[in-house]
Amino acid sequence: MKKQVIALLTAAMMVGAMAGCGSGGADATTAAADTTAATTTAAETTTAEDTKAADTEAEDGAETTAAEAGADGKVLVMATNAEFPPYEYHDGGDIVGIDVEVAEAIAEKLGMTLEVEDIAFDSIIPELESGKADIGVAGMTVNEDRLKNVDFTDPYTTASQVIIVKEDSDIAGPDDLKGKYIGVQLGTTGDIYASDYEADGSTIERYNKGFEAVQAMQQGKIDAVVIDQEPAKVFVSQNEGIKILDEALTVEEYAIAIKKGNTELLDQVNGALGELKESGELQAIIDKYISAE
Ligand code: ARG
Repeated sequence: MKKQVIALLTAAMMVGAMAGCGSGGADATTAAADTTAATTTAAETTTAEDTKAADTEAEDGAETTAAEAGADGKVLVMATNAEFPPYEYHDGGDIVGIDVEVAEAIAEKLGMTLEVEDIAFDSIIPELESGKADIGVAGMTVNEDRLKNVDFTDPYTTASQVIIVKEDSDIAGPDDLKGKYIGVQLGTTGDIYASDYEADGSTIERYNKGFEAVQAMQQGKIDAVVIDQEPAKVFVSQNEGIKILDEALTVEEYAIAIKKGNTELLDQVNGALGELKESGELQAIIDKYISAE
C-alpha cells in the first residue's frame, strides 16, 4: 500500500510541478497548493475523472490507488485474545465471535477495514498504549485500574464472574472458595477477584487460557475456576461432569478499550456503537451467539 501512496504523491507532485513550470514565485505557491488538493482528492474520493491527470504521468500507481480508495484503505486494528467463546474464538482458521462482529460493524460504519490481532490477554492494554493496535475488544471489563492506562467506550454488554466446579464438589458458593485451589485466566477480572481469597489461604493458579484452567480442574489439579459467565457456559457444555454455581461473584460491564487520550477515535467508536444499539444490530449480534434462557 505504501508504494501506491508514494506513486500517487509522485504523480501529484509532477502535476503540481508542471503547473508551476516556467512561472514566477507566485505560481510556485499555487503549484504547492494544487499538489495538496490533488493528493487529498485522489486519496479520499478517487474517481476515474480525478485520476486522469495523474494517469498520464504515473499510470499504474494512480489506477491501483483508485481501486484502494474505493475500499477506503484505512485499517482499524483490533487487539484481542481469541480464547474466550462466544466473544472471540478460533473457528478453523478464522477468529469469530460477538466482539469480532461488533468491531466489524463499527469499522464498516467508520469506513475502515478491520484487522484482528490475536495476542495474550494481558498484552492488549500495552498494545494499545504503544499504538500498535487501535481498539481492544476482548470481553474486557471496565475497572478503575485499567482506566488509569486506557479509555473505555460506553459499555456494550453486562457480564458476571461465575464459579465452575466439578459436579460432586463440596464448593457450593463463593464462601467455600476459602482455602481452595482456584484457577483463572491470567490478568482477568476473575484473577483479580479470586486473588482476594489468597488472604483466606486459597491458592490461585493462573493460566494463559481459560480453557486450560477448566482442563486442570478436570485433571484434579485445582478445585474451582473463576471466569466470565458466557465462556463458562461454553466450557461446561463442552465438558462432562462440571457445573456453574448459581451464585455469581460479580456483575461487570464490557467495553472497548482505546489508547488514553485518543478522544477522536473514542468519539467515533462511541458514535458507531450508539448507532448499533439504536438499530438493534448489536443485540442481533449478541443473540446470534447467546441464546436467551
Ligand atoms: N472480562 C474479563 C476481564 O476483562 C475477562 C476477559 C477475557 N477476555 C479474553 N478475550 N480472553 O478481565
